[in-house]
Formats: sequence, structure tokens, C-alpha cells
Amino acid sequence: MLKNFFAKRIKIKDIPLAATDNIDLSNVPKHVAIIMDGNGRWAKQQGKIRTFGHSAGAQTLRSIVKIADVVGVKILSVYAFSTENWKRPVTEVNFIMELLSDYLTAELDELNEYNVKMRFMGDKDALPPAIQKKMEHAIKITADNTGLILNVAINYGGQDEILRAVRKIASKVQQGEIKPEAIDKKLFEDNLYSRQLPPPDLLIRTGGDLRVSNFMLWQIAYAEIWTCQTYWPAFTQENFLEAIASYQQRDRRYGGLNKK
Ligand code: IPE
Ligand code: IPE
Ligand code: MG
Repeated sequence: MLKNFFAKRIKIKDIPLAATDNIDLSNVPKHVAIIMDGNGRWAKQQGKIRTFGHSAGAQTLRSIVKIADVVGVKILSVYAFSTENWKRPVTEVNFIMELLSDYLTAELDELNEYNVKMRFMGDKDALPPAIQKKMEHAIKITADNTGLILNVAINYGGQDEILRAVRKIASKVQQGEIKPEAIDKKLFEDNLYSRQLPPPDLLIRTGGDLRVSNFMLWQIAYAEIWTCQTYWPAFTQENFLEAIASYQQRDRRYGGLNKK
């Protein structure tokens, strides 16, 4: 593990060496979920239009995927576009769609090189066909990769995800395929977008708001939450390591009692 860490750290030149010293590599959260918020406010602060912030945010994601991989996070779930974000002006929505599409083209080779496996969460049917194709292509190209799982939430809503699972299960019950008594946590989770992924251990929200905004509502039941004022485009690899260091100080009791 440690050998792997140093090998990768040498390979990636922009990793802050000192910052990683505070991380206990034997207690890294397996699954980190991020609400990447604050793009618009960051742009405004720079005297630029909101879309400038979205472009800068895509660069932040690039650097955070690397540091997550280097410290040994196994799954990184990122909130890119919510089921509620359609309420925004059509120009902004279109810009974000283009950006996602460009990201999937521009980053694919590098993600593949880093052995990253791509997954997506959300209702893809409502997305532009060109993006749907790129998502399928990214899944296919990275299918055999064994490194970090990058799980991108696009047109994703936690409530929508739960409703879809309920509908799927209800129809199986109606067709006599399963009995209502058979509906348990495992069966329910098998019908979520996140099927077969363990729940997030750490939920990060940038941009200063203290809410979950419909992200992974079922899965974050026992996630440790870490927030910061920093807007997503200004979020650094050091900030990510700060979140990991904070996670490592937590006492996760899951409703039980402290072992100490
Ligand atoms: C997050 O940044 C990105 C998306 C929701 C697509 P915002 O666009 O929400 O930026 P703020 O929160 O308005 O600053
Ligand atoms: C959450 O941010 C969605 C994403 C980061 C994609 P929002 O900006 O949409 O959330 P609210 O509106 O502040 O709750
Ligand atoms: Mg926002």
C-alpha cells in the first residue's frame, strides 16, 4: 500500500508532499462523495460570468480525482448536475451539458491511464443523446480498469432515485416475482443507481452551504460530513487532504457505543 502510494506520488508531480504527511494511509475513507458547490459565486467573485466558474470547476475535479487515487480512496462520487438544476437559465444548463460532454472526451484517455473506472448515477434518458453516447463509451473503455471508481451524478436526485427503486420493486411484486416480505435493505439497494457500491464514508460539501441538496439521501445515512467555505473552483488537493484528516479524527458509532 505504502509502496504504491509513493510510486504514484512520484508519478503525479502536483501533489502537496507535506500535506500528505498528516494522513493515516491505513484509515482512508473507502468511498468519498462530493457536492461540488460554489462555481457561480466563485466566478462572480472574479468579476466573471457564472459559466466561467463551471469551467474552472471541471479543472478542480481533475486534480481531486488524482489526489483521491493517490491516497487510496476507492470510490469518488461527485455531484455534477441535479434533477433540480434544470430550473436554471437554459444558457447555463446548455453550458454545463457541453462541459460534461467535453470532460468525457478530454479526460477519458488520462482517466484510463490512471486505471480509473467510470460509473454514472442519474436519469440519463433526459440528457442530450450525444452525452448519453459518451457516457456509454466511457463506461465501456474503462470497464476493465481496477483503480479508483469515479461515479459521476448527472441529472441525479436522491428522491428520484428512491422513487425509481420503489417503482421497480412494486412492479416486481405486482408480477408475483417477489413477495413484499422479501423487500429488505439489500434488495432495495440493488435497485438504486449505486448498486454494488458501499455507502459513502465521507461527504464533502464545498461552498459554505450546510445542506445535502438531494444528494445520495439513502446512502449517506452514516456518512461523516465535512464542509468548507471554499468554492469548488478554488478547492485544492490540500483541502481534500484536510477533509480526510478530519474524517480520521471521527468516532464512527453507527448508533452503537464507543469502543474506547
Ligand atoms: C455547483 O456550483 C455546480 C452545479 C450545481 C452545476 P453552482 O453553479 O451551484 O454555484 P453557486 O452555488 O451558485 O455558487
Ligand atoms: C447541488 O448544488 C448540486 C450540485 C452541486 C450539482 P446546488 O447549487 O444545486 O444546491 P442548492 O440549490 O444550493 O441547494
Ligand atoms: Mg450551488
